[in-house]
Amino acid sequence: SQNIYILAIESSCDDTAASVMLNGRILSNVVANQKIHEEYGGVVPELASRAHQQNIVPVVQQALKKAGVEKSQLNAIAFTRGPGLMGSLLVGTSFAKSLAYGLNIPLIDVNHMQAHILAHFIDEEDFNKPEFPFLAMTISGGHTQIVNVSDYFDMEVIGETIDDAVGEAYDKSGKILGLGYPAGPEIDKRAQQGNPKAFKFTKPKVDGLNFSFSGLKTAILYFIQKETKANPNFIEENLNDICASIQYTIIGILIDKLKLASKETGIKHIAIGGGVSANSGIRKALKDGEKKFGWTTYIPKFEYTTDNAAMIAIVGHLKFLEGEFSQNNVVASARLKL
Ligand code: KG4
Ligand code: ZN
Repeated sequence: SQNIYILAIESSCDDTAASVMLNGRILSNVVANQKIHEEYGGVVPELASRAHQQNIVPVVQQALKKAGVEKSQLNAIAFTRGPGLMGSLLVGTSFAKSLAYGLNIPLIDVNHMQAHILAHFIDEEDFNKPEFPFLAMTISGGHTQIVNVSDYFDMEVIGETIDDAVGEAYDKSGKILGLGYPAGPEIDKRAQQGNPKAFKFTKPKVDGLNFSFSGLKTAILYFIQKETKANPNFIEENLNDICASIQYTIIGILIDKLKLASKETGIKHIAIGGGVSANSGIRKALKDGEKKFGWTTYIPKFEYTTDNAAMIAIVGHLKFLEGEFSQNNVVASARLKL
């Protein structure tokens, strides 16, 4: 059968990424992180868009070079159509459209959320692909969703955040504690050396499978304000315990909802994705779920779980096989639904 080479481009938030895939296997996976946002403690959309414009040509060139693939060998260009920041999406979308047009090959638009889930189908040694149906929990700085996945392109969102994403809960807590951005990895590291029961934060009451994290952030803020009034060195003296307690609360929220989703659907195959799936606490809680609840869990390689273009490439590959190509007039969509 024919070899299928896909070039994929991702630019929905603050990472400019390109990847080349051959028949479902990754040949290259290049990500340019935008350091510029660190000093602002969060992503600044206008700066993100400008950085994408600077990065996109070198990132694509590097992806092709690392893969050892010529532009003329490509069979299709896949790109993130949404959801994401409009100014960021526009850069990737325009670039992908022009390149596909110039090379006279098909263009494939990809939903970023679908890509986080289908990243589990990248062909890799030593990695079992999930069996359908499975539950996918996508947890990152931009998203928090539980999706019932019946097939590659048959997915239903059964729960999502009504306010902040879980990664934002980490990053905003980190800001209160004076940690750098993004704070997730440091809170995780410190949490492993602290006592998770040292401080208690109440979990939000949200119906069904939806999540809420904005109340937790406020609770942490008030708690820190109160404690530092009494003891100005409170944070320094208790940082590991504070981090462990925050992490314990967040993981509890995530696992409670996963348990409920599994119970309601009867599905025991559970996959996670998104930057927060790197978290040691969530990984351990999932492994515990295998013993406690008979779950089978799937966690992709880290480079395929934070924002990347390899996950866009696998969706491109699967859509290519189905002959699902974009129209010439396809446009970026900031609020694209699953
Ligand atoms: O998927 P990602 O790279 O980008 C998007 O937001 O889409 O996720 C980044 C988020 C940040 O909020 C970061 O703090 C969080 O993932 N994160 C973590 C960990 N590593 C990254 N949160 C908790 N524990 C970690 N180990
Ligand atoms: Zn993402």
